[in-house]
Amino acid sequence: MIVRKSEREIEIMRKAGRIVADALAMVSEVAREGVSTEDLNTKLEEYVLQKGGIPVFKGYRGYPKSICASINEEIVHGIPDQRKLSNGDILSVDIGVEFNKYVADAAITIPIGEISEEAKSLLRVCEESLNKAIENACTNNKLSDVSRSIQEYVEGKGFAVIRDYTGHGIGRQMHEDPQIPNFVSKELLKADEILLQGMALAIEPMICVGKYDTEVLGNKWTVVTKDRKLSAHFEHTVVVAENGAEILTI
Ligand code: MF3
Ligand code: CO
Repeated sequence: MIVRKSEREIEIMRKAGRIVADALAMVSEVAREGVSTEDLNTKLEEYVLQKGGIPVFKGYRGYPKSICASINEEIVHGIPDQRKLSNGDILSVDIGVEFNKYVADAAITIPIGEISEEAKSLLRVCEESLNKAIENACTNNKLSDVSRSIQEYVEGKGFAVIRDYTGHGIGRQMHEDPQIPNFVSKELLKADEILLQGMALAIEPMICVGKYDTEVLGNKWTVVTKDRKLSAHFEHTVVVAENGAEILTI
C-alpha cells in the first residue's frame, strides 16, 4: 500500500532531506586520494547527529555503519573500512537520515582525482537518468514511466541498468511501497501505479559499463558487478507533484 504524505509530513521530510543533502555535499569536499571510507563514515555520522538526525542505515538488518561507500565495481552497500581511496576511483556514497520520525535517502557517485573518460561518462549518464526520472515523477504519469525513462536513457548511451535492486517508497519507513525498478518488465506493468500528489519516492538508478548481473561479496552486504566492471549510483528522495517531482535531498 502506498502511503501518501500530507503537507505537514512533507515539511518534516524536507528537513530530513536537507541533512542528507548537506552530508553528501560535505563528502564531495572531503573524499580524496588517501582518505579511508571509514573516515568518511565517521565525519558524516557526526554531522547527522549534530543536526539532530539519526543515521538509519546503522542497525538496519544488522548493517554496521551509517553510510554505504561503494568503490568502482561495487554497486551498492559497500561497508566503510580502512581502505583508502585511490586516484581514478569512483566512489558511491549513500546515506539515509531519520528526522522527527521521517526518513530521507540519497546517494551520489564522485570521482576521486583524475578518472577515465568512460567513468566520467558513466557518472554523467547515471545522474542525468535520475534527472529524467524525476521529471517523469509527475501526477497522472505511471510508475512505469519513471522506470522507462531511466532504462531508455541509460541503454541509449550504451550502458546497462542493474536489475536486482530497485528504488522504493519512503516516509516513516526507509523502505515503503512501491518498489521502483530502473527498467520495465511485465511484472511492473501488471503492478503499475498511477502517481499521485504526496507520494514520496526514493528513485535510485544503479548502472554499469558491462553486464547487469550482480553478486554479493562474502561480507553478505557489498553488491558488485559479476564482470567487475564499473558501476555508478545516484539517488534522490522526491515528492510527486503536478509538474515533475519536488526534490527533498538537494
Ligand atoms: N539506501 C539503500 C536503499 O535505498 C539502503 C542501504 S541498505 C543499509 O535501499 F543496510 F545500508 F541500510
Ligand atoms: Co534508497
